[in-house]
Amino acid sequence: MDKKSILITGGAGFIGSHVVRLFVNKYPDTTIVNYDKLTYAGNLENLLDVERSSNYRFEKGDILDEKKLAAVFEEYKIDAVIHLAAESHVDRSISNPLEFVNTNITGTATLMNVAKEFWNGNFENKLFYHVSTDEVYGSLGETGYFTEETPYDPRSPYSASKASSDHLVRAYFHTYGFPIVISNCSNNYGANQFPEKLIPLFINNIKSNLPLPVYGKGDNVRDWLWVVDHAQAIDVIFNNSKLGETYNIGGNNEWTNIALIKALCKIMDQKLGRKEGDSEKLITYVKDREGHDKRYAIDASKLKRDLDWEPSIQFEEGLEDTVDWYLKNEEWLSRVTSGDYKNYYQKQYQER
Ligand code: NAD
Ligand code: DAU
Repeated sequence: MDKKSILITGGAGFIGSHVVRLFVNKYPDTTIVNYDKLTYAGNLENLLDVERSSNYRFEKGDILDEKKLAAVFEEYKIDAVIHLAAESHVDRSISNPLEFVNTNITGTATLMNVAKEFWNGNFENKLFYHVSTDEVYGSLGETGYFTEETPYDPRSPYSASKASSDHLVRAYFHTYGFPIVISNCSNNYGANQFPEKLIPLFINNIKSNLPLPVYGKGDNVRDWLWVVDHAQAIDVIFNNSKLGETYNIGGNNEWTNIALIKALCKIMDQKLGRKEGDSEKLITYVKDREGHDKRYAIDASKLKRDLDWEPSIQFEEGLEDTVDWYLKNEEWLSRVTSGDYKNYYQKQYQER
């Protein structure tokens, strides 16, 4: 590692916390600054195991706050950024699109601009790593895969805001020679994911014997990747990619929602000592998500070919590990599902 000080934005969130943990432990001589606004999705409890490490710092701040960012760059002499801070949930983008425009587009532009000013044209050994999503490519039919050459076709306010931020990051590369790399990843799952997303929401509902709200027919397809594998892919790309490159990251692991939910119910029955089939009875088909993308599937062969990365574990193993984590961390789950979560849940699901 040739960087002395790395700013990780969104490090208190789901994926960010796994990236922070990996970098703090793997690079003890590098200062890792976690810059996070601590929205509903940010939680410092995700980082209890590393918060006392001598190379870890936390700075509470908004990526829209140019002044605060400039002060943080100056204080830590930041020479690389891994940018994960974002509004990340598609359903929330449907009810509140402007929040996504502000955070994901203007926030990314503000952060990049502060980095550009601070580095002041001297980009040697500097890097701005932008973490993005496969949703920028749109929706697939029954066949085919997203490659790095697939034209952008975002279809939700969330994916449009991420696509827009990707375009801005590439524009800085072409216009200013700003040192960037982008990765676009498929659906992540694992410990510490906020229970608005499919897998932790359904684990929580099964545990509490609440209905499992399946959108539409449950035949939408997602390509699932264990979050620890995503963090490892980010590390490999961060250290080895050429500037200006894009890499797709995926699990090569497609599931229809309903097949995944049934697999999850089976694991939960075993773990909770219920009769097989009990949890499945909670499945409830509800009104579909507006503009619901049918299928995502990543072709990650470029990452395998160029940088020799591939997922480390099978989905069944990762899913069981995830269920175990949520059952073991009941307090974490009950804290994040109290207060505002209850209002969100009611609003999101009562009319479906
Ligand atoms: P998350 O919602 O769990 O966490 C987002 C984090 O960003 C939170 O800690 C939040 O406090 C912080 N944040 C939000 N607005 C901020 C602001 N204005 N200033 C500073 N911090 C702010 O998200 P996640 O699922 O961990 O996703 C992280 C990144 O990875 C996002 O950019 C997302 O688009 C991308 N991504 C996610 C997935 C996935 O499956 N979750 C897949 C591919 C890409
Ligand atoms: O593909 C990467 C993206 O994956 C990331 O960029 C996003 O940040 C992340 O949220 C995720 O987006 P999805 O919309 O695919 O994830 P979500 O967990 O919200 O939904 C997964 C699938 O499950 C999707 O087809 C919708 C469906 N679903 C979801 C919820 C929350 C349901 O059927 N019922 C639900 O209650």
